[in-house]
Amino acid sequence: MLVKSICCIGAGYVGGPTMAVIAKNNPNLKITIVDINSERIAAWNDSNLSKLPIYEPGLADIVKETRNKNLFFSTDINSAIDESEMIFISVNTPTKTYGKGKGMAADLKYIELCARNIADVAKTDKIVVEKSTLPVRTAEAIKSILHNTENDIKFHILSNPEFLAEGTAVEDLLNPDRVLIGGESEMAIESLAEIYGTWVTQEKILRTNLWSSELSKLTANAFLAQRVSSINAISELCEQTGANVNEVAKAIGMDTRIGSKFLNASVGFGGSCFQKDILNLVYIARTYNLNEVADYWEQVIIMNDHQKRRFSDQLIKTLYNTVSGKKIALLGWAFKKDTNDTRESAAIYVADHLLNEQANLSVYDPKVPENKILSDLNYLDTRTEEENKNGILCTSSPYDAIKDAHAIAIMTEWDEFKAYDWEKIYKQMKKPAFIFDGRSLLNKDKMNAIGFNYYSIGQ
Ligand code: NAD
Ligand code: UGA
Repeated sequence: MLVKSICCIGAGYVGGPTMAVIAKNNPNLKITIVDINSERIAAWNDSNLSKLPIYEPGLADIVKETRNKNLFFSTDINSAIDESEMIFISVNTPTKTYGKGKGMAADLKYIELCARNIADVAKTDKIVVEKSTLPVRTAEAIKSILHNTENDIKFHILSNPEFLAEGTAVEDLLNPDRVLIGGESEMAIESLAEIYGTWVTQEKILRTNLWSSELSKLTANAFLAQRVSSINAISELCEQTGANVNEVAKAIGMDTRIGSKFLNASVGFGGSCFQKDILNLVYIARTYNLNEVADYWEQVIIMNDHQKRRFSDQLIKTLYNTVSGKKIALLGWAFKKDTNDTRESAAIYVADHLLNEQANLSVYDPKVPENKILSDLNYLDTRTEEENKNGILCTSSPYDAIKDAHAIAIMTEWDEFKAYDWEKIYKQMKKPAFIFDGRSLLNKDKMNAIGFNYYSIGQ
């Protein structure tokens, strides 16, 4: 099939950057990203590139280069479906919050709506690409919806999961470790492989069956999250034994069989996907009665929840068992550096716990605005919106957050935190001044020499 036009449904953290990079490398393709969220589309179309809805290093330059040339953002979903030969579904697949599988299974209602929309609108044959992360065998449901229309149109379903990480999305898309395409139709697979082939070498483009592709995505995230939980489990043991988790990570990471990546002990992994994808994997395993498999992967989540909790517990214990009325400054709210995404960020849970203990919080994050911080807390529904607003001061300067604080908790590993004038900060804090470094970002000896009581995960 000659693909001249692409439609991508979902202008989010995946749809936006992925299509921008495809557009950059395929100037002859017309790509339209559509979304039901008109505010988001308006932000993608904003002439002020600092207002794009997603912050990713390098993304604004690519949008500037391609937007309104061969990359378009629109709310007219039906027209974009109608005029394209290939449709990517890149909508959200959150954990279900109701009914069967509540709190575990992926909520596929957005995916199903897209499939029905395509079935209703399409007048010509289409290649439909699952870009969202989906439970294994979802393609079967999509196929069933698309193939049960009353017209004669042929739909070819592909699974093409995305492996980009936020904060490095553009770099990951430009230089992927691999591109995975699962499908049944060789024609459809090769049509998509040709598009990636404009900048990715063929050896890196893997072709598999649909189910291997769907399951590989969940498995990749489960393995990555498992490494973080593994090193975090060891971090607790380090704290009890005098070992240093960074030294242990270096020592084991130099074994080429283990490898050095993803061994940073932390306050716990966040992000929109690790937890939801593992819960989904656990749910799938349970539906097949594979209880040992389910229990095994569930432990990754249990360990992560424990790590977040024990970070705030240690802070409270160290501050003489009470933080009531004390000012605690949280540096960072995003779930990792170089993104404005806060979904499932450990900072949200640590803040919630500290607010329960009546702490006065101040928060500074270079990319996350106050309304986002408050809405993250309000979403937990632990207390009223007014109580959240009264308990938390969001500042646009780190020095305002820190002034007169009893303790600082480093929640995100933003590079700028390393460059702060820590002697000046020390002078502005209440004494004894405490730092709880959830990211092993600062140098322990240097902080102790300034006068801080410095605690870091796994040291
Ligand atoms: P997101 O929430 O940022 O974006 C999804 C977008 O889809 C939203 O803007 C929403 O309005 C839109 N949408 C939902 N239903 C729609 C419909 N019926 N029609 C049109 N638009 C609709 O989500 P995301 O982070 O981009 O993730 C999308 C998928 O990609 C998820 O399955 C996720 O697991 C997967 N994924 C995410 C990442 C990541 O880093 N965020 C990486 C790899 C894979
Ligand atoms: C992750 C995967 O890395 C991507 O391959 C995948 O496409 C994506 O999920 C997805 O499916 O959404 P992302 O969540 O954006 O990407 O970011 P990561 O770099 O994986 O970090 C996830 C969390 O783990 C962050 O909170 C990070 O701080 C934490 N982390 C990561 C650690 O605590 N230690 C580490 O060593 C690595």
